[in-house]
Amino acid sequence: MKRILLIVSGGIAAYKALELVRLATKAGIGVTAVLTKSGAQFVTPLSLQALTTSKVYQDLFSLTDESEMGHIELSRSADLVVVAPATANILAKLAAGVADDLATTLLLATDKPVLVAPAMNVRMWQHPATEANMALLKQRGVMVVEPDEGPMACGEYGPGRLAEPPEIFSAIQAALNNGPLKGKHAIVTSGPTHEPIDPVRYIANRSSGRQGHAIAAALAALGARVTLVSGPAALPDPLGLTTIHVETAREMLAAVQAALPADIAVCAAAVGDWRPEEAAQKLKKTVDGVPALTLTENPDILAGISAPGPQRPRLVVGFAAETEKLMEHAAAKRARKGCDWLVANNVGGTGIMGGSENEVLLLTETGSEQWDRMNKQAVAQKLAAKIGEHFT
Ligand code: C5P
Repeated sequence: MKRILLIVSGGIAAYKALELVRLATKAGIGVTAVLTKSGAQFVTPLSLQALTTSKVYQDLFSLTDESEMGHIELSRSADLVVVAPATANILAKLAAGVADDLATTLLLATDKPVLVAPAMNVRMWQHPATEANMALLKQRGVMVVEPDEGPMACGEYGPGRLAEPPEIFSAIQAALNNGPLKGKHAIVTSGPTHEPIDPVRYIANRSSGRQGHAIAAALAALGARVTLVSGPAALPDPLGLTTIHVETAREMLAAVQAALPADIAVCAAAVGDWRPEEAAQKLKKTVDGVPALTLTENPDILAGISAPGPQRPRLVVGFAAETEKLMEHAAAKRARKGCDWLVANNVGGTGIMGGSENEVLLLTETGSEQWDRMNKQAVAQKLAAKIGEHFT
């Protein structure tokens, strides 16, 4: 049984630690909780004890604690140390190596990996001191579940809110190498394609790659080995997976084929349906009028990978960007492409294509589900969790 040592430091978000404990114990991960003095202002030791079904540690100099288990032993008794929520103060102490209470002493004494989920006011998060501390901690290998952006308890708005418990839990699973997709290979396509007209011009689309990249990261967080095949997107390569950069649909197809075999394929890329005949030289303006573009159909990567054969992934998920008759078009597309699941989104004028939110309808072998509008990360986590369930 895997076990985490969960340090709960102060802050209004401490209540979310209880939900995190529930998720972990439900998944069979043991939790030993440590509550800091300020953490105890927000959650009670009793509630943590009830959920972890074990002793909650609070004091460095408690004789009972020392006789039962010394702090050095406690710091090494788990497979992973998690600080959630992590205040600016505990992060600063961790960066500086200060050990002036039980939590910070354990963090200094441990020989196990450490994962932190910061939560604080936006100005505290953006303060150069906190930024420098975070950079130092990351450099030392501390894993970070970045805070979310949104309205804060203090009335301000910005990054600093504790990430939601399912996201922290996925990061824990990934750090423990314990996710439901452990040992599975997933290929994810993402972003637009660029189809050249001549050496300086191309045909593209509004896809940002946000949804596909988030799905790749969410699958990796559940333990999958992920190959992300990305068209030109202005996004950093997600950590913990392999990203292959391509420009055109044909390059994307070749990269996907080279990455096979896979257990899972998620085709979230907005692949250009057509490509122009590429001119060897830059097209010039002429008095004879505008040049005509001759278009040829691109290979359909999703339909190709969905076709029966020895290399067909066990689960193929396609996407459908529609502007009307969502259900009808999505069902027809799922049948036409031959994929197992289809994620349909309405991109009709609501800022979804290229934006940060998505509203999707998921079609599977067993029916359809309409999901509420949510950010693309949340969509990715929900989809990855469903894929995880499919493989367990
Ligand atoms: O046919 P349409 O472009 O609407 O289908 C969308 C789905 O098909 C997406 O999953 C997209 O990634 C995939 N697709 C593809 N190759 C193409 C065109 C679309 O993989 N050439």
